Amino acid sequence: MEDKLVKLAIEAKEKAYAPYSKFKVGAAILASGRFFIGFNIENASYSLTVCAERVAGINGIINGVRKFEKIAIASSGLNFSYPCGACLQFLGEFAEDMEVFLINGEAKIKKFTLSQLFPYRFSL
Ligand code: THU
Repeated sequence: MEDKLVKLAIEAKEKAYAPYSKFKVGAAILASGRFFIGFNIENASYSLTVCAERVAGINGIINGVRKFEKIAIASSGLNFSYPCGACLQFLGEFAEDMEVFLINGEAKIKKFTLSQLFPYRFSL
């Protein structure tokens, strides 16, 4: 499961639409045994850019899932790309907690939980 999640995130990264930053990010979410991919989609207006994690999450939501279990996030280069604050809040809407795998350009993996990366979230 985790190997497939990692592979899907790396493959999704290649499909990213990132002509402005040239920083491609891919993500894959596991939910109820199903996989949902996403990648960053940039826009000439810059601020309309959507991160890979949220695209993957929306892919899952429109396909009926409401509970995310794991996410893999792949970027290029030696650094690991940590999900931004907005994406952490977004993921937290659909996961009390979840595993977060970060993959760098050398296919090295770091593993966290959402609660480690984002211990407090806004909720109503
Ligand atoms: N990006 C993501 O896809 N996920 C993140 O968590 C942070 C940043 C994208 C947005 C933009 O297309 C590029 O990385 C550079 O900021």
